[in-house]
Amino acid sequence: MLEFEPPLVGCVISNRNYSFSLLQATNECVLNIPTLEIAEKVVGCGNTSGAKIDKFERFGLTPKPAALVGAPLIEECFVNLECRVVDTGMVAKYCLFVLEVVKAWIDPAVKNPRTIHHCGNGNFMVVGEKIRLKSKMK
Ligand SMILES: Cc1cc2nc3c(=O)[nH]c(=O)nc-3n(C[C@H](O)[C@H](O)[C@H](O)COP(=O)(O)O)c2cc1C
Repeated sequence: MLEFEPPLVGCVISNRNYSFSLLQATNECVLNIPTLEIAEKVVGCGNTSGAKIDKFERFGLTPKPAALVGAPLIEECFVNLECRVVDTGMVAKYCLFVLEVVKAWIDPAVKNPRTIHHCGNGNFMVVGEKIRLKSKMK
C-alpha cells in the first residue's frame, strides 16, 4: 500500500513474466487476494506461466467479468481489486508498477479470512490472531 486517497498499491512484477507484458500492454489488472483454502492453486499459478497454459482451466479457477477493467476477477478469491496503472516511472529500474485501485470487491461471507503471505523459499505465514490498537489512520 502506497497511499490511502486515492488508494495506490506498489506491485513488483518481473519483466520475465507474462503478466508484465500484459500489464504494459493494457495498463490494467486485477489483484486477487486468496485464502489458505486455495493455497495449492495459488502456488500452482506462481509456478506456471499464462504464456503457456490457461491457469483458470488448469487450476479450476473461475473468471468473472470486472466492472471497470478488462482483466477478469477470480471468483474463488475473497478479495479482488480492479486496478489501473498510474505511474510507470520505476518500471524500467525496479519493475515496480504504481497501481490505483478503482474498484474493490470483497466476499462478505468470509468472516475470518486466513490469508497467506510468502516468506520465501516455499514458506508461507498464515494470518492468525487479530489485535486492535488506537489509530488515527483508517
Ligand atoms: C509464492 C510465490 C510468490 C511469487 N511472487 C512473485 C512476485 O512478487 N513478483 C513476481 O514478479 N513474481 C513472483 N512469483 C513468480 C511468478 O508468479 C511466476 O514467475 C509466474 O510463473 C508468472 O506467471 P506469468 O508468466 O503468467 O505472469 C512468485 C511465485 C511464487 C510461487
